[in-house]
Amino acid sequence: MATIYYTGCTLDGFIATDDHSLDWLTSRDIDQDGPMAYPAFSERIGACAMGANTWQWILDHDEDPWGPKPTWVVTHREFAPFQQVRFTDAEVAAVHAEMTEVADGKDLWVVGGGELVGQFHDAGLLDEVWVQYAPVTVGSGAPVLPRHVELRLEEVARNRDFMCGRYSVVR
Ligand SMILES: NC(=O)c1ccc[n+]([C@@H]2O[C@H](COP(=O)([O-])OP(=O)(O)OC[C@H]3O[C@@H](n4cnc5c(N)ncnc54)[C@H](OP(=O)(O)O)[C@@H]3O)[C@@H](O)[C@H]2O)c1
Repeated sequence: MATIYYTGCTLDGFIATDDHSLDWLTSRDIDQDGPMAYPAFSERIGACAMGANTWQWILDHDEDPWGPKPTWVVTHREFAPFQQVRFTDAEVAAVHAEMTEVADGKDLWVVGGGELVGQFHDAGLLDEVWVQYAPVTVGSGAPVLPRHVELRLEEVARNRDFMCGRYSVVR
């Protein structure tokens, strides 16, 4: 079981623009059966964690309701109840323990944002980073991982518009 940060990213290291737009990402061409694409990745995942702004983006934009995977949204806000989503302000170590319990041996996906991923790393709980780099720069926005994290490049691939990298965290 691995804890994985899987995300799309601009070439200059942002996962969203300042106004939380992902148009630079969703407008790109990707082969959903190709290397490091979401459908195969998703099958490995037993539980997800994300921050409040990422959850708000899903509520605002995702036509497909968030799937049946157990999900923890780390927040201080009051959100409306939603299927298997738990809202919590617990420490990430406690969240990770709960995720592990329900994931049934499958991997854990830290969806983002970068600061939350950094909190998992600070707690020694981040194993891998998978990034799909879109061919664009946006100048500013939500940073991909605002920490010093040493990584080892394990795999690279092109998937149509995207340069994809899979990294393991060096401890
Ligand atoms: N490119 C991609 O594939 C991709 C992937 C993921 C996300 N995104 C986008 O990137 C942006 C990420 O936004 P973001 O950087 O602001 O990150 P975020 O993690 O989605 O949201 C940050 C907020 O989550 C809450 N939070 C985080 N850690 C917490 C903790 N330990 N305890 C309690 N609350 C905590 C805080 O809000 P409160 O205190 O107000 O609750 C914090 O301001 C979003 O627009 C999202 O849609 C893109």
